[in-house]
Amino acid sequence: MPTIEYPIREMRLFHKEALRQLELLGKGLERFRVDGKRDFLTLSMDGFFLFAKNDLAVHIRDEEGAMFPILRRYTKLVDKLLGDHDYIDASVKLLETLRGMKKANDSEIDKKIKEVIQTFRDHIWKEENVIFKVAEERLTEEQISEIAERMALFRGGKEAG
Ligand SMILES: [Fe+2]
Ligand SMILES: [Fe+2]
Repeated sequence: MPTIEYPIREMRLFHKEALRQLELLGKGLERFRVDGKRDFLTLSMDGFFLFAKNDLAVHIRDEEGAMFPILRRYTKLVDKLLGDHDYIDASVKLLETLRGMKKANDSEIDKKIKEVIQTFRDHIWKEENVIFKVAEERLTEEQISEIAERMALFRGGKEAG
């Protein structure tokens, strides 16, 4: 019998890691503010970019390609969340550009990192506390199987648990 646990478990795992990455990013920024040394900030940014390229892309594909199309009949919040995804994606790209520029642009990087941390955290909060609850309460077994199947397909047909 399919359960919502599998898709939601996968998504929660990602959220946990994303919050960890955001915390590291915040710490990097804090340290840079205190002692003006970039090393830790650079490391945390690079870690975050790598995470965005690999894990974030997979996660957004799961949400936008598997879960949201089904959930959007039950909540309008989905549209807002899609907007957040676009914003987060564009912000990560902008940060990468700023980071790669020869001339340091600290105040812009500072501002953008703070915005990304805030938006991303709020986004995860909305998904964990609203979207997953709607999914748990409203979706039928059939719909849950569909989400799980789509996610498995994205992973190359690997069996969904
Ligand atoms: Fe999301
Ligand atoms: Fe998410």
